[in-house]
Amino acid sequence: MNSNIDLIKTSQDSVNEYIRKMEEISENSLKAKVITHGCQMNEHDSEKIKWLLEKMGYKLIEDDNEADLVILNTCSVRHSAEDKVYGQLGSLKHLKTTNKNLKVAVCGCMMQRQASRDYVIEKFENVDIIFGTNNIWKLPELLYKSYNGQKLSMDIQNKYLDLDNNLGANRLYSYKSYVNIMYGCNNFCTFCIVPYTRGREKSREADEIVDEIKSLIDKGSKEITLLGQNVNSYGRGLENKTSFAQLLYRINDIKGVERIRFMTSHPKDISDELIYAFRDLDHLCNFLHLPVQAGSSRILKLMNRKYTKEDYLRKIDKIRQVNPDIALSTDIMVGFPGETEEDFEETLDLVKRVEYDTSFTFLYSMRSGTPAAKSLNQVPDKIKHERFQKLLDILYPIQYEKNKKFINKTVKVLGEDISKKDSRKISGRNDEFKLVNFNGSAEDIGKIVNVKITSVNSFAMEGVKVE
Ligand code: SAH
Ligand code: SF4
Ligand code: F3S
Repeated sequence: MNSNIDLIKTSQDSVNEYIRKMEEISENSLKAKVITHGCQMNEHDSEKIKWLLEKMGYKLIEDDNEADLVILNTCSVRHSAEDKVYGQLGSLKHLKTTNKNLKVAVCGCMMQRQASRDYVIEKFENVDIIFGTNNIWKLPELLYKSYNGQKLSMDIQNKYLDLDNNLGANRLYSYKSYVNIMYGCNNFCTFCIVPYTRGREKSREADEIVDEIKSLIDKGSKEITLLGQNVNSYGRGLENKTSFAQLLYRINDIKGVERIRFMTSHPKDISDELIYAFRDLDHLCNFLHLPVQAGSSRILKLMNRKYTKEDYLRKIDKIRQVNPDIALSTDIMVGFPGETEEDFEETLDLVKRVEYDTSFTFLYSMRSGTPAAKSLNQVPDKIKHERFQKLLDILYPIQYEKNKKFINKTVKVLGEDISKKDSRKISGRNDEFKLVNFNGSAEDIGKIVNVKITSVNSFAMEGVKVE
């Protein structure tokens, strides 16, 4: 037996053993709440955590006050994300004074950063358990040790990369599912903390991914979202060589798959093979999220993005030549260190030229440990905010114009939830990933239905269900 298989087997036995021990402790009466910050990776990790909790006999609840265990799954990508966690830890410290049995666990990307981890350990003595992004499977053992008197039960080792793959997931939705195809990132964009929190890039074997998707489809899933920080470089180092586009072709052929999405692709690695997949694969959604970050080639170089403004625009042209109706989305950051007014104008020029359907915009946030944080040319907050507003003033009217084109058209929507704004409506997404609210009933949740669009704004569309 090779040592990796050995390790997986030993770890599975150990997980099962600690789950049994925790079942004895919980006696099916303990309650847990999981709070998730950050991206889809974290959302999916929380699904695995919830699966383990239920196995141990915990009941999942929403109210902190009733909880015996609160788990904070954290994100480090921006300062504001970390601040939220510190605020929540402060409230939990208070809650612990009234609920002495409460256990507090912190996991996720912040716990992979030594500075944040040390700060939590020092400032919040109420924290009982800490685990990293590759140690979810250790949760039963850490909990057990905490119940047996260990003051801080912690595991943040990175050596068990594959072991969390073997966990099940308590999926938030039965009809749309996240599937990890790779972990980590090798790109080291100079502003970004993710390579330090999630480690080096590692792809999962295609057969394993396909098997997971088949079993999700058997359980009623209609939409599969493939997750990775940079899905275009999927396949490096695999035993059975498969490119990302080849993986998409395989998934498209799985009987019962209705929609395929993926997050996120890096512009530098968009291949022709992938562009043609958008033309050829009937289940691949008509939507591409292609984060540009900035429009100035000078800033892109400082960011270590490995493409210029012109390269990016050329790729967009090619994508639109092959697939003129594709909806495009992006991430843009303003105020990267050294960004001048001229650089920022390049960003405005780029967004006017590309005409994005959707956008996620951020103020640059300094992350200690990344190269950009060392720059002496930090942009003052006031200027960052002014640029941010200028950018939104250009992005949003374009998004509105794009959405207007859907008025009176009938689109296919996967019903996902009761609408947050109006409980008589159902919300879901169309092929282009646009949020659609429509008059419908709970029966439409989990189904793909035809909706005629009646009105739109820059962020969402309203419609009525039609046969
Ligand atoms: N892997 C993805 C991005 C993951 S992080 C990709 O490369 O596209 C999601 C987004 O957060 C990034 O695209 C970037 O726009 C933003 N982001 C990352 N680090 C940031 C920082 N230090 N300050 C502000 N925004 C940041
Ligand atoms: Fe961060 Fe860049 Fe990796 Fe995305 S590609 S996770 S922005 S380092
Ligand atoms: Fe945040 Fe970690 Fe995702 S830093 S954005 S939760 S990979």
